[in-house]
Parts: sequence; structure tokens; C-alpha cells
Amino acid sequence: MAATQRITSLENVPAESTFLFRVADELGDRREAILVANGTGSTDADVSCWLNYCQHFTHIKLDKGDGAPMRDGEVICANHGAYFETDSGECTFGPCEGAYLTELEVTVSNGDVYLADEEYEFVATGPIEDDGDLTSTSNVEF
Ligand code: FES
Repeated sequence: MAATQRITSLENVPAESTFLFRVADELGDRREAILVANGTGSTDADVSCWLNYCQHFTHIKLDKGDGAPMRDGEVICANHGAYFETDSGECTFGPCEGAYLTELEVTVSNGDVYLADEEYEFVATGPIEDDGDLTSTSNVEF
């Protein structure tokens, strides 16, 4: 049973983009995850957490290191324009319409966001840096 682990302060979660961090799964494999604000920002329900991978091609990162683009309160995959709801993670438009992002459980307490997921452990903020450069994921498409 994983203890809750502080990710960042709530004020660091941008209103129009995403906050990127790294987690490790039960096997120790590193993955990226994003925090997304979806409300006024003071309760658990105002912050969502998803693995940072599109449901169209799951090797494609939504946040490529500078924050994922957002429009009308939805996260957009820059590769083929899929839209994902920030509260449910459902793809509402695009090639993977109807699919859901993988959710990680987080809690908010005293202005800080904590990872509270039994399957993932917080590693650090920022992108995974040891899997090649950040542009390598988009080169896969060409
Ligand atoms: S990889 Fe995200 S929409 Fe195609």
C-alpha cells in the first residue's frame, strides 16, 4: 500500500496546460504522468491525473515537455488533434473518440497535490530524460 507522496503545490498546476511528472509502476518501469486542473483548485475533484500518453498511439505523449495544449477545458493531443475531457479523461473528438486516458489517483491537502495511487510511485517532476531526446517520440511517425 503506497503512502501518499507530494507531487507539487496546487498553484503549480496551470489552468490552461498540464504539469508533467514521472512515476514508476509496480515493476519499476518509469512512466510520465500529467496533472490537469479542472476547476477552481481547492479540492480533489479540481485536479485530475493521467498517464501522459494518447489513446490513439500510446507511445505519443500529450505533454511533450512544455505542457499539453488545451482548448475549451480539454487536453489536446498535438499529433492528430484528439480532445480529452479533463474530468473524465474521455476522448470526445478525434481518432480515439470514446477511449479513456489512464487515471492515477491524486488527493489535494493544504494546497498540495499528492499521488495516492496504489499502482504508481512518485519519482520526480519533469519528463523522463533517459529514454532519448524529447523529439524522438514524434520522429516515430515519419
Ligand atoms: S497520437 Fe494522439 S491523436 Fe493520434
